Amino acid sequence: MMLRMALAGLGDIGLSAHLPAMLRSPEVTLAAVVDPDPRRREIAGIPAYEDLSQLPDDIPAVVLATPPWVTTDAIVGLADRFVLAEKPVATSVAAAEPLTRIDGSRVQVGMTYRHDPAMVQLREWIAGGVLGDRLVVRAHIYDERRDPRDPEHTERIRKTLDHGLPVLHEGSHFFDWIGYLLGGEPRIDDAWSVRTADVRNLTGARLSYPGGHVALIECGWLTAAMPPCELSVLGDRGYAVLDCRTFSLRLSTEDGERLVEFPGERTQRCFDRQLARFVQLVRGKAEASPSLADGLAALRISERVAEASAEVVR
Ligand SMILES: NC(=O)c1ccc[n+]([C@@H]2O[C@H](COP(=O)([O-])OP(=O)(O)OC[C@H]3O[C@@H](n4cnc5c(N)ncnc54)[C@H](O)[C@@H]3O)[C@@H](O)[C@H]2O)c1
Repeated sequence: MMLRMALAGLGDIGLSAHLPAMLRSPEVTLAAVVDPDPRRREIAGIPAYEDLSQLPDDIPAVVLATPPWVTTDAIVGLADRFVLAEKPVATSVAAAEPLTRIDGSRVQVGMTYRHDPAMVQLREWIAGGVLGDRLVVRAHIYDERRDPRDPEHTERIRKTLDHGLPVLHEGSHFFDWIGYLLGGEPRIDDAWSVRTADVRNLTGARLSYPGGHVALIECGWLTAAMPPCELSVLGDRGYAVLDCRTFSLRLSTEDGERLVEFPGERTQRCFDRQLARFVQLVRGKAEASPSLADGLAALRISERVAEASAEVVR
């Protein structure tokens, strides 16, 4: 049986990643789209609505590719359906308060790259002690390059920055990855921000995780060029590097070097796997993963880093 599903939010990630994943899925029928912008609703042959409240009752599941300042209330309003909600689920911990009062068991959060086999492989190496017992994780996550030839992109990013620093938006991904890899909630030892644009656009922090692990993170938007996006894990026995563009893994140990690559392109692979996991949730075959609690935890850490970095602005 095909699962009838709606897509709300026909912007950048909705159209470029969620929509194609839904159309590719052998288990999903795209039954409706929702967006307040009439130009974006013009998808031939698919019933389109202006508002989520107009969705027909016979659609049990909704993908929310909406901005975080819309997503929170949308999740609450869809409490009797299953929801795959884009990250972050709110613009702040305070704004997320309504989400702590709902039954989150039907909500999966779109921390998409947790689904990649590379992440699963890296977690296995860490859990199996392949890299060592105490680890240093370094994450350099730079995105949203400033491009004067793309004013629409700049405008969208500026609007997003009105609702929080880059670390709040990107942190949903990489604090989720690091939590998934190391487990537990971190202590923030140190944080900084640098303002190279007219906002605090570059942020970094040092965090301690249970087990004696340390994470050094950096993230930033809106520079004309960007360092490579990379997550690495160093321990006494080995060094693993995840290329965040391709999600290929390089493992170096005393036994030599190994490159681990997975078939397909990483965005397509992750959005397909994320949707397949959501279908399992709707069909009652799996629990939500990443869960709403995971989404709120990543938001909490991102916000604490943003706050700590506000004290050290250069
Ligand atoms: N998982 C990922 O890898 C990933 C990647 C990029 C962006 N995102 C997240 O996805 C979300 C959307 O980002 P984007 O770049 O696509 O933004 P966007 O601004 O390009 O698109 C958002 C869309 O939502 C629509 N919208 C606004 N209010 C709505 C409502 N009430 N109901 C339905 N639609 C509504 C807007 O009209 C717009 O079309 C953000 O939270 C972002 O952080 C996730």
